[in-house]
Amino acid sequence: MARLLVVSNRAPVEVERGPQGTRIARTVGGLAAALDDALRARGGTWIAWVGPHHADELTSTETGLAYPIRAVRLKEREVNDYYSGFANQVLWPLCHTFPSRVHVQPRYWNAYRQANERFAAAVQNAVVPGDLVWVHDFHLCLVPRLLRAAGIPARVGVFWHVPFPPPSVFGILRWREDLLSGLLGADLIGFQTEQDAANFLASVRQFLELPVIDNPPRVVLSGREVSIVALPIGIDYQRFRSQAADPTVRATATRLRETLGADVVMLGVDRLDYTKGILERLQGYERLLERHPVWRRRVCLVQVVVPSRDRLPEYREMKRAIDEAVGRINGRFTYEGQAPLRYTYTALGRENLVAYYLAADVALVTPLRDGMNLVAKEYVACRAGENGVLVLSEFAGAAHELREAVMVNPYDPEAIRRALEISLAMSPEERRRRMRALDRRVGSRDLGWWTQTFLTRLAATAGTAATAA
Ligand code: F6P
Repeated sequence: MARLLVVSNRAPVEVERGPQGTRIARTVGGLAAALDDALRARGGTWIAWVGPHHADELTSTETGLAYPIRAVRLKEREVNDYYSGFANQVLWPLCHTFPSRVHVQPRYWNAYRQANERFAAAVQNAVVPGDLVWVHDFHLCLVPRLLRAAGIPARVGVFWHVPFPPPSVFGILRWREDLLSGLLGADLIGFQTEQDAANFLASVRQFLELPVIDNPPRVVLSGREVSIVALPIGIDYQRFRSQAADPTVRATATRLRETLGADVVMLGVDRLDYTKGILERLQGYERLLERHPVWRRRVCLVQVVVPSRDRLPEYREMKRAIDEAVGRINGRFTYEGQAPLRYTYTALGRENLVAYYLAADVALVTPLRDGMNLVAKEYVACRAGENGVLVLSEFAGAAHELREAVMVNPYDPEAIRRALEISLAMSPEERRRRMRALDRRVGSRDLGWWTQTFLTRLAATAGTAATAA
């Protein structure tokens, strides 16, 4: 089996330097767990930016992981211009179809190029013939082409975790050709949905004028082809299932429900981001309470917001707007000390998160645009095919698979209000029927399936010797 080199902006651990010395903590998240298994089985290295850390390598002894981490070093200014700048203020809003939020500064592009060169150089130092190199996400578009130009003796795959916008949106970007050519240095490019793959191919056709074949999808270059695959990321299904069955976690969920004191508990869990549709969701909930006084004392929405990207003013502004909406709704509808909305601004540990999923009758997953959205799948896994309603945005990647959810246009608070009414009125049989179908889908396409399928596809590509493309 070929060795694996994983390349991503964020590392599977966070390194914090405090007065007591350096503390290394694992990043919470499914991807790290899935790739852990693949790295353990195949051997290899993870190449990533680990924050202001000065050693070139974090060893297994330091991290407790089965593989070493090669640290890519970035100066504070580079983090600002490459990560906060080009990645989060240019590519992120563009890919999520928010062109008016794109803030371009010429120095962002230079920093992005230089950071990508730094990541590619780290791969060159670590690679041995026959390796599989797996590059993740929009932070590292230029890495595949840099690796090909360097002639590395390995197959290179990319997975694009966020949405890929249509050419009318992607084409706004001055560097569209560079980014597309950068990605086409790979042997295989994966997207979350068929729609994302089709959008990418349409941009390749339009802006690079290259021949594209639709079935099976691939781009024809001189002397080689780049395969394209739609492969929706899954979750660590068994782990969520077994945590949801754990008596301690179940007891926490019961206590939570008692504390909330409502007949019906609704839940939203989101990283702080304007793409997540949190404000529109709160407005939809407010309309439900306005229209149905009878529900005011019987329903409670728990909204968990996980802090994120707080260096950026628009994320701080989003936090302020959420705080205000929560205050307004609770100010209007709290009755005899019973607030209809409970809001926490914190990262939840895995067990706590599962307890919230268990306590919730309805999960509201209403992003304005999302690559996949794993909260939707996690909620389903924790319900174990039993009672529970998933209200899901049409514009989340997960909507392509989870058809039995209550679908909603997340931009429209009235549509959210109606989806909440449907959820409240749904019979227990209907809830169970839908949840069972959702559970089968989430269980059969889990994170292990996703990792294995991608790596098998990558290993099967022709892997034409890398030469300058
Ligand atoms: O969805 C893309 C993604 O990079 C996820 O992998 C990650 O959870 C999220 O965006 C936030 O990323 P970060 O905090 O690294 O900017």
